[in-house]
Amino acid sequence: MKKYNVPEIAEGVFFVGIKDWNRRIFDALIPLPQGTSYNAYLVKGKEKTALIDTVNVGFEKELVKKIEQVISLTDLDYLVMNHAEPDHAGAIPYIMQTSEVVLLTSEKGEKMAQIYYQVPKERIKIVRDGDILELGDKTLRFIDAPFLHWPETMFTYLVEKKILFPCDFFGAHTALGLYADEVEEIIPLAKRYFGEIMMPFRSMGKKALEKIKELKMEIIAPSHGPIYKNLERILEVYRKWTTGETKEKAIVLYVTMWNYTETMIKTIIETLLSEHIEVSLYNLINADIGRIAEDLVDSRAIVLGTPAVLGGMHPLAIYPLHLIRVLRPPLKYSAVLSSYGWGGGAIRQVLEILSPMKIEIIGTLEINGPPTSDDEQKIVEIGKQLSNKIKLSPSQGS
Ligand code: FEO
Repeated sequence: MKKYNVPEIAEGVFFVGIKDWNRRIFDALIPLPQGTSYNAYLVKGKEKTALIDTVNVGFEKELVKKIEQVISLTDLDYLVMNHAEPDHAGAIPYIMQTSEVVLLTSEKGEKMAQIYYQVPKERIKIVRDGDILELGDKTLRFIDAPFLHWPETMFTYLVEKKILFPCDFFGAHTALGLYADEVEEIIPLAKRYFGEIMMPFRSMGKKALEKIKELKMEIIAPSHGPIYKNLERILEVYRKWTTGETKEKAIVLYVTMWNYTETMIKTIIETLLSEHIEVSLYNLINADIGRIAEDLVDSRAIVLGTPAVLGGMHPLAIYPLHLIRVLRPPLKYSAVLSSYGWGGGAIRQVLEILSPMKIEIIGTLEINGPPTSDDEQKIVEIGKQLSNKIKLSPSQGS
């Protein structure tokens, strides 16, 4: 009985991945409004068959049942590990124990396969940049692509069918659709994913895009989310995101206790909007970190509003600010506003956290209690200066 949906995306190439419809958080960090998928692909040549990546722990048996709709697991010859993270490699121990496959991975991947999945060294074959694997009428070529998303990551390219399997790169967290054209919000979802996963490795992403430029590609089949047949749709935005191209846009994050900081934030937003700056606002009391990551991909400036709490920032503002520091978005300018009850200190702490980043501080204002009309005027001035900086700055980032 053919119970499972195992679509053949090209002759002899089958999607055997899993859709995790109910997953709502990733890395205990990233909300997944549409779930996600762990995409694995079976490439059946005339002589040999290879599985490209596996699935998250817990879905091993389902993966094997899907494979067995095409071939018997005992006929599987190779397992390609593009990436060692458990969402793609978690089923490796099960596959290795129930078959005779040889694991192919990068040099760094070899060590990880031993540490994470206890794969014996003698069952691992290291593949290097440009190496090929013949499957009969199909050829796999391996492409080094480090830090997309871990140091060991690589891409696999199926020469005859012109399919690139880039694992996390070009991914999106959604369980919807097999092909990208079926998913209405695919570019915002891909952008959100880029912000969360790829943004810290922009320069490596840019190098990878250069490297694959000469490849003849008809399909990009990532390991999360849908498959691309209309390649320019995703390549165009990836070229912008990896070069850190920003818009005349400010992301505004704030938290308020007695609405005084919020009043300050409302004033600067009015100024930014009247200067035709795009604004994306988040009240940190209930903000979706994934949406913030998405907006950070192309924002040129950040405005942070936080009251002082016991000599420092409000705790709700510390978390996203730390995240910004590690995600390394292409932000160029900032402004910080704060109201305190009986003692300041919030702005000092914001500046400490931002100091290692190349973000120019355009203006700060720390006030006691509600803003006076003088304070409002100062905020309008900061908003105008910030708008001018945003408008005069080139769009290209680092
Ligand atoms: Fe989808 Fe880096 O794992």
